Amino acid sequence: MEKILDIITKKMQQAFAEAGYDPAFGRVTVSNRPDLCEYQCNGALSAAKQYKCPPIQIAKAVAERLDAADYDLVDAVMPGFINLKLSGAFLCKYLEGMRTAGDFGVEKTGSGKTIVVDYGGANVAKPLHIGHLRPAIIGESLKRLYQFFGYNAIGDVHLGDWGLQMGLIIAELQDRQPELPYFDPGFTGEYPAQPPFTLSDLEEIYPAASARKKTDPEFAQRAHTATFALQQGNRGYRAIWRHIMNVSLPDLRRIYDSLDVHFEKWLGESDADPYIPAMIADLKARGFAVESEGALVFPVAEDTDKKEVPPCILVKSDGAAIYATTDLATMVQRMRDWNPDKILYVTDKRQSLHFEQIFRAARKSGIVKPETELEHVGHGTMNGADGKPFKTRDGGVLRLESLIADMTDFVRAKVVENRIVEDSEVEDTTHRIALAALKYGDLSNQPTKDYNFDLERFAAFEGNTGPYILYTIVRIKSILAKYGAWETLPIQEPANDYAKDLMLSVTKLAPTLEAALKTSSPNLICAYIYELAGFVNKFYHETRILGEENETLKAGYIALIGLAKNILELCIGLLGFSAPEKM
Ligand code: ARG
Repeated sequence: MEKILDIITKKMQQAFAEAGYDPAFGRVTVSNRPDLCEYQCNGALSAAKQYKCPPIQIAKAVAERLDAADYDLVDAVMPGFINLKLSGAFLCKYLEGMRTAGDFGVEKTGSGKTIVVDYGGANVAKPLHIGHLRPAIIGESLKRLYQFFGYNAIGDVHLGDWGLQMGLIIAELQDRQPELPYFDPGFTGEYPAQPPFTLSDLEEIYPAASARKKTDPEFAQRAHTATFALQQGNRGYRAIWRHIMNVSLPDLRRIYDSLDVHFEKWLGESDADPYIPAMIADLKARGFAVESEGALVFPVAEDTDKKEVPPCILVKSDGAAIYATTDLATMVQRMRDWNPDKILYVTDKRQSLHFEQIFRAARKSGIVKPETELEHVGHGTMNGADGKPFKTRDGGVLRLESLIADMTDFVRAKVVENRIVEDSEVEDTTHRIALAALKYGDLSNQPTKDYNFDLERFAAFEGNTGPYILYTIVRIKSILAKYGAWETLPIQEPANDYAKDLMLSVTKLAPTLEAALKTSSPNLICAYIYELAGFVNKFYHETRILGEENETLKAGYIALIGLAKNILELCIGLLGFSAPEKM
């Protein structure tokens, strides 16, 4: 469906033309004086300069030519503004169009296009910590938004499964259990199918090895050597690597599932490995990769740089491939397998330079075709309620699972205390409210900004929170359930100002979602549904809905709040959470 602004701009342009002026002056905007009007056109002011006559004269001439049926108010005011209020009939027709069109008439601008969304970024063998919350939540929301617009959106978790943490675990394991066959170079048989460690062993081994690396240079060296040998294909180390993956992945999946974050692909840095040798050879042959102090680097600095952009390091002096290498090789794989129109990365903004470097390298070398867009959404940090970096009581990094558990426990206590649902539904309801609290608390901030995690504020049922939005949806659902079948009731003209405000807000769905997509800003969706929920609640408080005696009027009210509910549900789905039946 065409957006309201586009429709009324076209009509305004036609009126300019009919009045004898250049239609280009007929641009309409949302009013910046909502007390006076809903939309406005300031074109007469600019036109006056060209036509050398008073702007009010132009504004009046144009206003006269607008179709009165479209507006409750068309006012040409000094010095030459045209103020507009849409008519009930116009709005009614537009909303009925939204109600009956698929996906509320939002244009599927992405159909036929493919986007890879690289988010999550979990590191195998290390527990997810709170730093992994934002890339998971923001990435999932952006991916869903792209899918809604019709893109074939491929979410890829891009596991950190090829780096030093693997070598550290291998070296530590070798010290602890040297008798294992993985460490016997002469071993040619089949390695055991059972891993030599459990998940909780791994969770102890990795931090122990990581701590040892800092004080024991000889051990650190062995870990580096093991990492290199793993990457070079050492048979025993690859077998250990597979065990690590098998033990670690189910746990990562479980936690992402609990966040309702789902990846189409569970590929990792290791999956890029097969592409590295040919890529390096090619970059060398074409002169993009050059030796520098024993390492192989890809210079990406440009004359216009204001800050120094160091070269991309492809192969370190010890021969190991690093972050940039696997990221570039991953682009090779993605282009080859999916030929995407866009690749979007969601990571901490402290990685911005890395992405600047690899984007440049990919462009210069043609690893990514020129039409393929590359975007890095760098998110800010989630701090504690006091604004300081989030730490556990003993100063450690907080596990993501503990954070989710804290929120869940807090919400569960409320759900139980307020006897919101039957015992059998406590867990499901708790889960939905806790997710809404966590995700909305995060996504309502612009991704690039830091924010403070405030459990009680995020979980509150009032204010600008996820639970407030859920509460609004649940309230409408209960009215609809009392009314009975409502799904096919047509939209009617607004019966009062509250209905009209609500209807105007409903029409802003498409522009909001488009802007959120264009600027990678789920926070715009949050701001929108907060406004929409506010209008719904205002309407509900000021209007007798179920008590209305006139059945036709009542049906119109129901149709309107039903549409608002469907839109709220669409939007929270795009943010990555869902509403319970009762709250
Ligand atoms: N594993 C990385 C980290 O923990 C994030 C990976 C992000 N994606 C990428 N393609 N570099 O920092």
